[in-house]
Amino acid sequence: MDKLIINGGNRLSGTVPISGAKNSALTLLPCALLTEEPLTLRNLPRLADIDGFQHLMNQFGVSTGIQGNRPEDFGRVMTLEASRITSNVAPYDLVRRMRASILVLGPLLARTGEATVSLPGGCAIGNRPIDLHLKALEAFGAEIEMAAGYVKAVAPGGVLPGGNFDFPVVSVGATENALMAAVLAKGTCRLGGAAREPEIVDLCNLLAAMGARIEGIGSSELTIHGVKRLHGATYSVMPDRIEAGSYACAAAITGGEVLLEGAKAGDMGATLHALRNMGVTVSEEPGGVRVAADGALKPVNLTTAPYPGLATDMQAQLMSLLTRAEGASVLTETIFENRYMHVPELTRMGADISVSGRTAVVRGPARLTGAAVMATDLRASMSLIIAALAAAGTSEVRRIYHLDRGYERLEEKLQVVGADITRVGDE
Ligand code: EPZ
Repeated sequence: MDKLIINGGNRLSGTVPISGAKNSALTLLPCALLTEEPLTLRNLPRLADIDGFQHLMNQFGVSTGIQGNRPEDFGRVMTLEASRITSNVAPYDLVRRMRASILVLGPLLARTGEATVSLPGGCAIGNRPIDLHLKALEAFGAEIEMAAGYVKAVAPGGVLPGGNFDFPVVSVGATENALMAAVLAKGTCRLGGAAREPEIVDLCNLLAAMGARIEGIGSSELTIHGVKRLHGATYSVMPDRIEAGSYACAAAITGGEVLLEGAKAGDMGATLHALRNMGVTVSEEPGGVRVAADGALKPVNLTTAPYPGLATDMQAQLMSLLTRAEGASVLTETIFENRYMHVPELTRMGADISVSGRTAVVRGPARLTGAAVMATDLRASMSLIIAALAAAGTSEVRRIYHLDRGYERLEEKLQVVGADITRVGDE
């Protein structure tokens, strides 16, 4: 397993190209199952999870081809063609490696009238149930049964009749599965309390480009009028708002200035608002979002919430930044029950953080010192990188396969703006 060696203290300066959004790509890829025509996705990030999803799609008989795969390119173009689906079973050994595989349930059900998917199980940040995915599909007329660690969904007569469902809590994945199931329903499906994340809008825009009829895009009330068939499309994945926010924190903690090239400020409202309240200068430019910090950071209180609230995926990274703020900040994590695993490692680097339940109090400015630390999950790993960039001395971040799932060519992007970071093979 590789590790990253970081010598902290360098001020970041320059341009960071922002890749296509992982959490959009993972819901756009399964849309290929909804049509027998080719679907071409551009600006796909070069990530382990995207490779994994491509392999999963191949299991169903979907042909996939990659273009524009020069090593120096950021992002890739992939064409997927599901002219014939040879299986509608997503096996355990694939789903266990990537829980986003559950997002094939809705489209497989819609296209073939049946889908059997291994239950994804939990992960480091929480037990991640899928009850809302299943309740939404049942509301649209699916028959659901669970057996031997698998969930099987069947559309009576091969086509979902349609129906209404109001989400009791906001769920990104359940909204995505419900949308992909609804577009080929016989009748109309209505979703209340749907997720409004930019990745949901990206999914709705792709589905509409394929011929779906969706009203209320961007709102929490979605109405989908089923159509008989969808056609292929060519679509470009939105820029990754979490990657952009992560590099904004990296620039800010080093007192640097970077242009987040291709970032969309409109997708990052809550994060940019938090950064501005900390005293970071944030400006929108034609080429992206520019972030600059040159001195003391102010403490802020942050609470994660469904979009347009502050993304839970930004909590760990902002916490790292707040270890350097002059005063106490209170962070509250409302989405996942175990998303403070970066705290013990940040503490080992000298941060002063105390956690009680869902609340963390960060006191600063802490003098961060380099250490050997362990990555535990994707965003926690990034928070350790951010701290290491500002720490005095050398840090070693191990188990960085977590990072490779969500950050395309991270060390290259950081080296270009002046970070002293190298990837080495672990013993
Ligand atoms: C998506 O996960 C993202 N993953 C996560 O990003 C992100 O943190 C999360 O949305 C919230 O924004 C992808 O898009 C691939 P949820 P998802 O369903 O869909 C509960 C990252 O770092 N819930 O919105 O799984 C759930 O336990 C990853 O890139 C149910 O109770 O999140 C959680 O407490 C991490 N029942 C809350 O809802 C369900 O059926 C939000 O989960 C589904 C969810």
